[in-house]
Amino acid sequence: THSTTAVMTENIRINNPNVKYTDTHIEAQYSYHTTAVRRDEDTLTVTPSVSELAFRTERRVPRLGVMLVGWGGNNGTTVTAAVLANRLGLTWRTKTGEQKANYYGSLFQSSTVCLGAGPDGKEVNVPFRDLLPMVHPDDIVFDGWDISSMDLGSAMERAEVLDWSLQEKLRPHMSHLRPRASIYFPEFIAANQAGRADNVLTGTMAEQVEQIRADIQDFKHSSGVDKVIVLWTANTERFCDLTAGVNDTAKNLLAAIQSGGEVSPSTLFAVASILEGCAYINGSPQNTFVPGAIELAVERNVFIAGDDFKSGQTKIKSVLVDFLISAGIKPTSIVSYNHLGNNDGMNLSAPQQFRSKEISKSNVVDDMVNSNPILYRKGEKPDHCVVIKYVPYVGDSKRAMDEYTSEIMMGGTNTIAMHNTCEDSLLASPIILDLVLLTELCQRVCVRPQGSETFQSFHSVLAILSFLCKAPLVPPGAPLVNAFFRQRACIENIMRACLGLPPQNHMHLEHKLQ
Ligand code: NAI
Repeated sequence: THSTTAVMTENIRINNPNVKYTDTHIEAQYSYHTTAVRRDEDTLTVTPSVSELAFRTERRVPRLGVMLVGWGGNNGTTVTAAVLANRLGLTWRTKTGEQKANYYGSLFQSSTVCLGAGPDGKEVNVPFRDLLPMVHPDDIVFDGWDISSMDLGSAMERAEVLDWSLQEKLRPHMSHLRPRASIYFPEFIAANQAGRADNVLTGTMAEQVEQIRADIQDFKHSSGVDKVIVLWTANTERFCDLTAGVNDTAKNLLAAIQSGGEVSPSTLFAVASILEGCAYINGSPQNTFVPGAIELAVERNVFIAGDDFKSGQTKIKSVLVDFLISAGIKPTSIVSYNHLGNNDGMNLSAPQQFRSKEISKSNVVDDMVNSNPILYRKGEKPDHCVVIKYVPYVGDSKRAMDEYTSEIMMGGTNTIAMHNTCEDSLLASPIILDLVLLTELCQRVCVRPQGSETFQSFHSVLAILSFLCKAPLVPPGAPLVNAFFRQRACIENIMRACLGLPPQNHMHLEHKLQ
């Protein structure tokens, strides 16, 4: 039984001969509609086609273990605390009354999808998580690494995110949790982090990778989980130089780890996870997934995903710019200031680490701009400026100030200014949960293409997670989508496909005819 947020659980059964429930699987025949477009001189020829696919989803939900790199940080402690508080059904007093543990901000736990219409014609909405069998976050077992040895109880206090009375209730459950020693190469994160690095591995790069692999195995055996997913929520690293012969292929990358080349700690974690067959998710902006790491994941058939949690300012940007451009309005200048006072902010006050964040934040409007040649000439982009400042006093309560200026009809100008204040880690924590739960689900889904005998899994680069990432990693040649509602519809419609249901079309024709 689950705590407070699981009050409503819907049991969904599809009534369609194309959908079969076996003891182990849900199997759905699915007609996938695509449209090919060809330009000949002044004519676009548009050809719709249908291919008949089969989706197969394993019904048994495993016991999931999640290992966080940066477990003792603000996100690591907050997500661990939130899951414990929900599992224990905790309530606590704040100055405005009693607060209950919840999962607000989680796509799967706290948003709904429309299944269809009831007998009265009204929409029937169900929790997103009930569409398919998924792990419940209350059941996740956490473990992880941090270069700071502080136990999770004290680290939660250091983070200054959760109400004190909740911390008092959680401390007995958190203080026995201790991060494992981690890989620390000082040149990759800001020099101002050196003071907390008292829990670090030594030895060659290759030996340290072996230790991380041993840690994953140890966690798996000692906790009894069925599978492990590893997620980086440690400090933002500087970008890694991409060098032919070092990190360009899987083979070269493995060789560079043996000889000690330019390989970041995060790439070492990714390699260790992939070699252990564990999905690896990057919640920070740096280029962990150098070409050699991507190739290794593809070779080993292991999921990787990233980059950089899409939690606040960028999330709004991917909504607002989508709205403006799709309404035919032309954003010409987007200026985003942030200030924050947590350890992430201190790390980002160093130029190389800020640069990683700047890059990851800067491409988010490209797909929307490129989609509209009426508003933008080829190669034209709005001015886009991102500033991040470290202001210790505001702690985890990040401030984001954005100004969007757009051209409207007949030379008019529209400026939207917005001020957003929010505890950063309380936005990132539910996203961490959604990332691992969706990754885990994707490990149980496979698809049989038309004319094929065999089912195959999704591509190793798990682009369906784009909704949750600022700078989505997609398979080579695949379109990159940042637009918020397209990303959400992608998840919803793929999950519907697993149930043999057509994509949500929002037409409501039955209410529009006479
Ligand atoms: P934090 O600084 O509180 O936590 C990071 C933790 O990582 C620290 O405890 C640090 O000791 C540890 N660490 C650093 N290098 C390590 C290594 N090599 N191995 C293991 N541990 C290591 O930062 P916070 O606020 O938790 O954010 C974590 C990351 O998530 C940052 O990179 C941040 O940019 C990214 N992020 C956060 C968002 C949010 O909080 N809303 C949104 C998007 C990204």
